[in-house]
Amino acid sequence: MNESTSYFGGKSGSGTYQTIINQIPPHRLYVELFGGMLGIYRHKRPAQTSIIIEKDANLINRYKENFNIPAEYGTVMSLLNFANNRRSNGVKCFEGCALELFEFSAAYTALNNEDVFIYADPPYPHETRSSSTRYKNEMTDEQHKELLETLLSIPDAKIALSTYPNDQYYEFFLGRNEWRFIEFESHTRGGMAIEQLWMNYPEPTQLHDYQYLGEDYRERERISRKLKRWEAKFQDLAPLEQMAMLQRLNKTLDTSTEKQAYPQIKPSGSAVERTKLIEKSISETAELTLYRAAGMYERGMSLDEIAAVYDMSYNRLTAELRRRGLWEPIAKMIKKRRFAENRS
Ligand SMILES: C[S@@+](CC[C@H](N)C(=O)[O-])C[C@H]1O[C@@H](n2cnc3c(N)ncnc32)[C@H](O)[C@@H]1O
Repeated sequence: MNESTSYFGGKSGSGTYQTIINQIPPHRLYVELFGGMLGIYRHKRPAQTSIIIEKDANLINRYKENFNIPAEYGTVMSLLNFANNRRSNGVKCFEGCALELFEFSAAYTALNNEDVFIYADPPYPHETRSSSTRYKNEMTDEQHKELLETLLSIPDAKIALSTYPNDQYYEFFLGRNEWRFIEFESHTRGGMAIEQLWMNYPEPTQLHDYQYLGEDYRERERISRKLKRWEAKFQDLAPLEQMAMLQRLNKTLDTSTEKQAYPQIKPSGSAVERTKLIEKSISETAELTLYRAAGMYERGMSLDEIAAVYDMSYNRLTAELRRRGLWEPIAKMIKKRRFAENRS
């Protein structure tokens, strides 16, 4: 493991950054509020403009060295001006407190827009920690509350927020129905952990970056091989035939209803539906019985135990449940079960 993969709470682990990037809709401005070792920023397709904020000066200094990202030692205002200017291009980092940014009203003008995507990966709340590792900069419960309230105050931006399951977040988001979450397993320095990603937008129907399409490694490999085969077939066509094919695809996929800069060819349906179409690896029998999973969970089985019944990995099971629209009821049950466990 290199330093950036082993960074405490980092998102560079295999399966982790792919799952998060598969939830990111297209955007012009990308904002990462708690940079760390930039697990998401470094793996995703760059946006036209990106800004990164990190409080630890040592990390900021290493961004330039390790990832060729310039540090910005200017004021918060210079960062916000860069973010707000639609002609800006590239990335700027800022050494400072993510919450301080919002002390400026200009932050709301720059960030509360539909083409803005904000990824926040704050230090995990203390109640979720099994390890004694600490960041140089931590956050109190009060600061987490401030962060959550601040994020609610920019509802036009698309926001994704990483955490480990914890009561403070559950309670905060209870009844705020525009927010949803997904859960997935991730490899951490201390072993496997359940990651939670809260989002203020529905399952995206278009992604900013399609390179990690697929719910797990096997599926991503299969999709990647399939795309390569199609690409090779396309390359075999004569140049005019290629243009004819593009025109035909554009017509079939009907891009006329929505103007979008990228991609030009719009596949129909949601990312999940498209994956479903591309991959039909689960046998008919497994497909039918999978519907019993919610019932099994209700009767007290853990997701690991249910995965074993189907002879699948945990990730594969949760991916299949999501594809079949069975994840939401199970997620609600998980929430209830955790509340009950914590109360007793
Ligand atoms: C969970 S880590 C982020 C990991 C990162 N996503 C990655 O993939 O490496 C949280 C980071 O937030 C930083 N941090 C803590 N408090 C902060 C604050 N108020 N403003 C900005 N960054 C802060 C910590 O120094 C730490 O690097």
